[in-house]
Amino acid sequence: MTLTLAAVPRYYERTMLDIYTLGEEVLTEKAKPVKTFDSALALLVDAMFETMAEADGVGLAAPQVGVSERLFVIDLRDGKRWVFINPEIIATSEECVTAEEGCLSIPGVFSEVTRAARVTVQARNLQGRPFTVEAEGLFARAIQHELDHLNGVLFIDRLDKDEHDRAVQAFNRRNRKRRTRA
Ligand code: NI
Repeated sequence: MTLTLAAVPRYYERTMLDIYTLGEEVLTEKAKPVKTFDSALALLVDAMFETMAEADGVGLAAPQVGVSERLFVIDLRDGKRWVFINPEIIATSEECVTAEEGCLSIPGVFSEVTRAARVTVQARNLQGRPFTVEAEGLFARAIQHELDHLNGVLFIDRLDKDEHDRAVQAFNRRNRKRRTRA
């Protein structure tokens, strides 16, 4: 099921949004641009920050909560809460960095992923105003990971086939165990 922005206030009463996991179709779809910067959008973003903090994540993209729209939030616990709406990467460093990544939509699975060391991103904020940010380190990695979500790409899709299959198996094993316990 895919939520529409209009359905979000109803879900917001619970604060925590459902996080969609590997196998859900919304995670493989190309998300649509945000067109309306209204209070429903602000509520969605608030609920995404809450949900992400509760799940102990540093980034969360709208498709991960079932909303196929182009926005994501990042909070690296450095006192800054970032909201990226309709983001575009406009410059990428040639230098790459490999580091371990995980994803709230693939709980329990971690793999080394190679990404650009630095990126420059253009996006809009909650008020619809455009901004540009140059990012490096974990911030640059988080932006690339979350932007991938908006294009239906998961971090395991960036691994070679063997690693990808191992990651899916690990996820399925873990999920089966959880279902058995529940
Ligand atoms: Ni993710």
